[in-house]
Amino acid sequence: MSAGGSTAAPVTDPTGLAERFADLWVAVTRAGGAVGFAPDAPETDIRELAARTLDEVRRGRLHMIALDGLAGAVFLQPGAGPVVAHRATVLRLMVAPQRQRRGLGGLLLAAAVDRARELGFDQLLLSARGGTGLPEFYRLQGWTEVGRFPRALRVGPDDVRDEHWFQLDL
Ligand SMILES: CC(C)(COP(=O)(O)OP(=O)(O)OC[C@H]1O[C@@H](n2cnc3c(N)ncnc32)[C@H](O)[C@@H]1OP(=O)(O)O)[C@@H](O)C(=O)NCCC(=O)NCCS
Repeated sequence: MSAGGSTAAPVTDPTGLAERFADLWVAVTRAGGAVGFAPDAPETDIRELAARTLDEVRRGRLHMIALDGLAGAVFLQPGAGPVVAHRATVLRLMVAPQRQRRGLGGLLLAAAVDRARELGFDQLLLSARGGTGLPEFYRLQGWTEVGRFPRALRVGPDDVRDEHWFQLDL
C-alpha cells in the first residue's frame, strides 16, 4: 500500500533487519512512544525484545509490515487456539519520530488491516496507552473503543495509565 511516495508492505523474511528495527524501536521509545517501554528503559532490553520479535516473524508467529526501509513497522499476532483463530492483535505500531504526524501511521495501520484480510482474519484487536493522543488516533482511523482496563499500565513509579481496548471487524 502506497501514499505520498511512501510504501507499507509485508516483510516475510526479516533477515538483516535486526539492527535497523532495534534502532527504530529505541528512537520511538526515547521520544515517548507507547510501544511496551517507559522512555528511559535500558537500551539492551529494547534491543533484546526487538530481536525476539523478529525471531517470531521468522517462525511465522507474527506477521510484519514495514514502511519505507524501516521508517516504521507494525505486527499482527494471530489468535492462539481454535476459539480465537479468527482474529489477530495489532502490536507495536511505530513510525520514526522525525516522520510522525504526516499520515504514515495511518498508512501502516491500513496496510496491516489489508494484510489481515489477505490472511483470512475476521477481526482485529489492539490496545493503546491512556493519557496519550493514541485513543484519538485509533478512533480517527475508524476503530471502535470497546472498553478500558483502569490503571492497567505502570509506565513509571508514579505514572499509572488506563489501557484502552479497540476492535475492528473486517
Ligand atoms: C502512533 C503513531 C504510529 C501514529 O503515526 P503518525 O504517522 O504520527 O500518525 P498519522 O500522521 O497517520 O496520524 C496522526 C493523526 O492522529 C491524531 N493524533 C492525535 N494524537 C496523536 C498522537 N499522540 N500521535 C499520533 N497521532 C495522534 C491526530 O489527528 C493526528 O493528526 P494531526 O497530526 O493532523 O494532528 C506514531 O505517532 C508513533 O509511532 N508513535 C509512537 C509509538 C506509539 O506510541 N505507538 C502506539 C502503539 S499502540
